[in-house]
Amino acid sequence: MALWMFLNQALAGAFMPEQGTQIAKEVDNLYGFLLVVSFISCAILIGGMIYFAIKYKRKSQSDKTPYITHDTRLEILWSVIPLIIFLVVFAWGWTIYHDMRAMPENALEIHVTGKQWAWTVEYKNGVKSTDLVVPVNKDIKIILASEDVIHSFYVPSFRIKQDAVPGRYTTLWFRAEKMGEFYAFCTEFCGTNHSGMVARVKVVTQEEFDKWLVDESEIGLLPLAQRGAKYFQTRACASCHNVDNAAVKVGPSLFKKFGTEGVFGDGSVSKFDENYVRQSILEPQAKIVKGFPKPSPMPSYQGQLSESELSALIEYIKGLK
Ligand code: CUA
Repeated sequence: MALWMFLNQALAGAFMPEQGTQIAKEVDNLYGFLLVVSFISCAILIGGMIYFAIKYKRKSQSDKTPYITHDTRLEILWSVIPLIIFLVVFAWGWTIYHDMRAMPENALEIHVTGKQWAWTVEYKNGVKSTDLVVPVNKDIKIILASEDVIHSFYVPSFRIKQDAVPGRYTTLWFRAEKMGEFYAFCTEFCGTNHSGMVARVKVVTQEEFDKWLVDESEIGLLPLAQRGAKYFQTRACASCHNVDNAAVKVGPSLFKKFGTEGVFGDGSVSKFDENYVRQSILEPQAKIVKGFPKPSPMPSYQGQLSESELSALIEYIKGLK
C-alpha cells in the first residue's frame, strides 16, 4: 500500500498536470492503481507465457504432451481475483464520479459560454471576462452553454471536463485548493481555431476576488477606447484578429487599418471607417478582405452588441496605431 502510494505520487508528479483540487488527487490515485494493477497483470501473464514456453518446449520426437483437462481451483482463482479487482475499480470509480457530478449547495455560480473560438465568463453582477477568476477553497459551479457548436470545457489541473452543448445548459463544479494560474481548454473539435480556444483560470484569495469583481464592474466608467479594448477581449474578437504586427490569425489584422483603403475579394475598394467597421461586425459576409475565405468564418454580432459597445470597439480599433 505504502509502495503504491509512493509510486502513484511519483507518477502524478512526473507525468500528470499539477493537482489543483481534491478530485484531481482522487482521480490520480485511481489512475495509479489501474496502472500498477495492469503492470502486475501484464508481468504475470507475459512472464508466465514465456516461462511455460521455455519449460514445456518439446525436446524430442518421443517427448509426448500429457493430456491435462483442467484444474478447478486454478480456474476459480483466476476468475474470482480479477472479479474482485474489477468490482473494487468500479466502486472506486463510481464514488469519484458521484463526487464530481453531485453539485454542492451554496456554490458560487458562474456562467461560461463557448463560442467559436473563445470562452466567455459571466458573473452574477454582470461582469464579463475571458479569464475565469475564482476564490481559493470555495465551491464553484460552472453553468455551461454554447452559442454555436459543441465545445468542451476542460481544466486538466482540476481533472474536470464537461461538454457545452447548444440549446441546453450543462454544469460542472470544482473547489480549487491551490492558488495560481491554470488553463481551461476546449476539448471538442469545433473548427479552424479550436486549438486556440483557451481560457486562463486564476485562483486567488477571497479578498483579491472581491476586489477584482468590483474593479471589473466599474468598466462602464472607463473611456470609450479602453472599454473597447476590454470588449475586444471578452467578445472574442482577439481570438481571430491581431492588433499588432504579429502573424495573421484567422481574420485580417486590425493594426494601423483605420483610415486606410480596404480592398475586397470582389475587387471593390472601400474606406476603412466607422461605418465599415460597424458593418463588418454586424454583417461579416458583406465585405470580405481580399485573400480571406468566403464565406467568412466570423459569426454575426447582430443583436449581441449594444450601440454603446459598438462605439467603444470602433474607438479602440481607431486607436490601433
Ligand atoms: Cu471550442 Cu473546440
